[in-house]
Amino acid sequence: MPLRLVVLISGTGSNMADLLGRVDEHPEAGLDVVAVGADRDAPGLERATEHGVETFVVEFPGPERREEWGAQLAVRLDSFSPDLVVLSGLMRLVPPDVVRRFHGRLINTHPSYLPEFPGPHAVKDQVEAGVKEAGASIIVVDNGVDTGPIVEQQRVAVMSGDSTESLHNRIKQTERELLWRVLTELAAGQRSLPVGQD
Ligand code: GRF
Repeated sequence: MPLRLVVLISGTGSNMADLLGRVDEHPEAGLDVVAVGADRDAPGLERATEHGVETFVVEFPGPERREEWGAQLAVRLDSFSPDLVVLSGLMRLVPPDVVRRFHGRLINTHPSYLPEFPGPHAVKDQVEAGVKEAGASIIVVDNGVDTGPIVEQQRVAVMSGDSTESLHNRIKQTERELLWRVLTELAAGQRSLPVGQD
């Protein structure tokens, strides 16, 4: 049985689209992206549709209704019976109830070498800090901001003259490779995820 994945995005979903392309190219990998969801009408959803993948939106109603949003999101996620939920550019903290419900089945890609540079502006922060090496990480999601156990990570070189955009594009190449490695190894039973706190 293939590993059932739901991917959550907020933006262009270029990493998600890369994953869908690889899944299409490698049916033997044992991965099935059963849905792509978003917290808004994200442009990336169209790319999922082009790949024939079901999409859904659970619109974020504002910070004061975050828990309610989480409950709705959990119901939608559950309806797909995912083995794993991949946060691939979801620009929201997932409420604790959702983290608990999908404990050990929720992973996130992040554009830095965690625990260095957590948070939503990691690439800009790395450029401004003038680091020589940036990074990419895959983590298990817990209730902190990018604090969960690290699944895989790799350094990414910073080139002189790099802008936030050029560095982010390079980091995304690494994120895609790391995510593919993690997912295919999980599907093949060659690795398990580290256990985080719920
Ligand atoms: C990735 O760098 C991801 O790690 C971060 O947001 C970016 C998503 O980019 N959280 P895209 O929408 O897949 O192009």
